[in-house]
Amino acid sequence: MYRFPEDSKLYDPDFLFGVATASYQIEGATNVDDRCPSIWDTFCAKPGAVYKQHNGDVACDHYHLYQDDLNLIADLGVDAYRFSIAWPRIIRPDGTINQKGLDFYDRVISALEEKNITIMATLYHWDLPQYLDDQGGWLNRETAYKFAEYVEVVSSYFGDRIDFYATLNEPWCSAFHGYRDGKHAPGIADEKSGYQACHNLLLAHGLAIPILRKNAENSKHGIVLNFTPNYPANESAIDVADFADQEHTHWFIKPIMEGKYPEEVYQHYIDVMPLISEEDMAVISAEIDFLGINNYTRSVIDKDGQYPNYKKVELSDVERTHIGWEVCPEGLLKLLTDLNQAYSLPPVYITENGAATDDKVIDGAVDDEQRCRYYQSHLSSVDQAIRKGVDIRGYFAWSLMDNFEWSEGYKMRFGIVHVDYETQERTPKRSALAFKETLASR
Ligand code: FCB
Repeated sequence: MYRFPEDSKLYDPDFLFGVATASYQIEGATNVDDRCPSIWDTFCAKPGAVYKQHNGDVACDHYHLYQDDLNLIADLGVDAYRFSIAWPRIIRPDGTINQKGLDFYDRVISALEEKNITIMATLYHWDLPQYLDDQGGWLNRETAYKFAEYVEVVSSYFGDRIDFYATLNEPWCSAFHGYRDGKHAPGIADEKSGYQACHNLLLAHGLAIPILRKNAENSKHGIVLNFTPNYPANESAIDVADFADQEHTHWFIKPIMEGKYPEEVYQHYIDVMPLISEEDMAVISAEIDFLGINNYTRSVIDKDGQYPNYKKVELSDVERTHIGWEVCPEGLLKLLTDLNQAYSLPPVYITENGAATDDKVIDGAVDDEQRCRYYQSHLSSVDQAIRKGVDIRGYFAWSLMDNFEWSEGYKMRFGIVHVDYETQERTPKRSALAFKETLASR
């Protein structure tokens, strides 16, 4: 059981506890019901792109096992479920609507409604239809308008049945891993492309917001951003750590909250900046009802030659998870209070937080003690941030179950429920049982 002070807001009946997943990571059934290929199907097939050339063809087979998985969610006693809708299941290459794709999410949503579970749907969690990548993907401004058409289809179909619509998940990863360092699909490593993709993604988000408002008046609309706070390695690195925050955190949140990119970063990268018009910035800064924040770790930054050049430092005397990320609950607290000071934030939901551990099932149980400690300490940071005035309304554990962890394949397990990929057996880990107990004790 996770424990918080008795008067903690986390025990408030209105505070939403949830679990999160994403379509490509859990669904499998990539060839079923006329789903089109996505950039991740293509990327996984490239030798060397993904650990052991794993792919999402089967994943957790959630497309077929969704009923069992939703029963599992209900059994945990969570208030909310965050999942994503796969664009390649909804819109065909010729622009027509694939009813079978809508039907699948209708089944999921109906089951959640029956269980009285609040629904947060992410409209884009990285599985861009391959036919759009063939026309330039996120480097093509037209993709933002295609996204708006897709959002029109989904939101006019489901309307208020979805309580929270999140436009994009982590445009930082889509743009910077997808197009700047090439670690994610479509695997382009080019600075100019990274910034171009970023701008088109944010434009897509901005175009979607008024459509969502029109079609789902009573729902909440927002975006999910990922932030890793940058700490200076020493006194002389304070300015570069701040620059790193400008480049990775404020580059994404400032346009949304204030309609502008951070000037210093813009000037530094002037040679690789896309065309940015005033009108675009007005679209991008459409008012949102909530901000989803994903956080896992912090970075430690040192100077690398002349300002503002910097490098990441890997400290040796710190605790790390299986994926190598430092455990730093204080970083989450700092991030939340810093952002709250810098912006006038809408209500915040922690839409992802969690740990990868090298779990084994022993006698039918999984003792993921590091993950339990991780949740305890990070939830305590959320509690403290609320006490310091940050308006945090909910927390989603990443993830409901082990799944396809992008370029790490199935090697990294982030679930609170263990998945045996041979048998598709689900085993709630100790961390899941602790959630269940905590939620029941409220
Ligand atoms: C985030 C992604 C999510 C998952 C976690 C570990 O960047 O949004 O899909 O892979 O990391």
